[in-house]
Amino acid sequence: MKKTELLYEGKAKKIWKTDDPNLLISEFKDSLTAFNGEKKDEQAGKGALNNKISTILFEYLESKGVPTHFVKMIDDNNMLHKAAEVIKIEVIVRNIAAGSLSRNLGLKEGKKLPFTLVEFDYKNDELGDPKLNDQHALILGLVKEQAELDYIRYMARKINRFLSEFYAQAGLKLVDFKLEFGRDANDNIILIDELSPDNFRLWDKDTNEKMDKDRFRQGLGGLLEAYEEVLKRIQNKG
Ligand code: C5P
Repeated sequence: MKKTELLYEGKAKKIWKTDDPNLLISEFKDSLTAFNGEKKDEQAGKGALNNKISTILFEYLESKGVPTHFVKMIDDNNMLHKAAEVIKIEVIVRNIAAGSLSRNLGLKEGKKLPFTLVEFDYKNDELGDPKLNDQHALILGLVKEQAELDYIRYMARKINRFLSEFYAQAGLKLVDFKLEFGRDANDNIILIDELSPDNFRLWDKDTNEKMDKDRFRQGLGGLLEAYEEVLKRIQNKG
């Protein structure tokens, strides 16, 4: 499958058209951004690590019956996947307080939440990805009806259960993460985007050491080493 035309360039990926209108190629970039693009860096090898980690997680979720856009990993930096119309909602799932939840509500980082929290942010860089409630999402026409929001929430919780268990077997705590969904050619809602430590907070289960993009956001260093360790652990788990 060959790249034909650049469809879109995002902060962490380029998306290419192919000669099959139903298939796209995501090229994972080495660039890192945080705080809505204000902080930037480049780390050689980061894109390949994210592609490999995403591939393992998509294959695992598919094996559990979760519909996703994943088709196959092509090479170190490229993934073949189905084309989908992006639903402009960032679905944030949280098990443990951290990041903006801790900042906004004054919850101590590391506090286990009494239940899994699923939040929606509007995927809109210009507006700084504001929080959405269901009525906002319906008013903006981001989905067709309430039942679709209910389905997205249901799938997000299910994916959280599968991934929390998967990471636990690799000695990692799944603190929180972001998912994106889209519509495939048959109008089915499927999981899209990537599943990587750029979008997941992962802590070592014993030491709580941060193994994700917070190493960059917080200037802790050792980002590539942490992503390599995540890949090694999920390859060797169980
Ligand atoms: O920053 P915040 O605490 O709201 O992030 C929650 C989770 O969602 C984190 O795991 C973060 O990596 C992810 N996220 C993301 N992309 C965004 C916003 C959040 O991957 N635009």
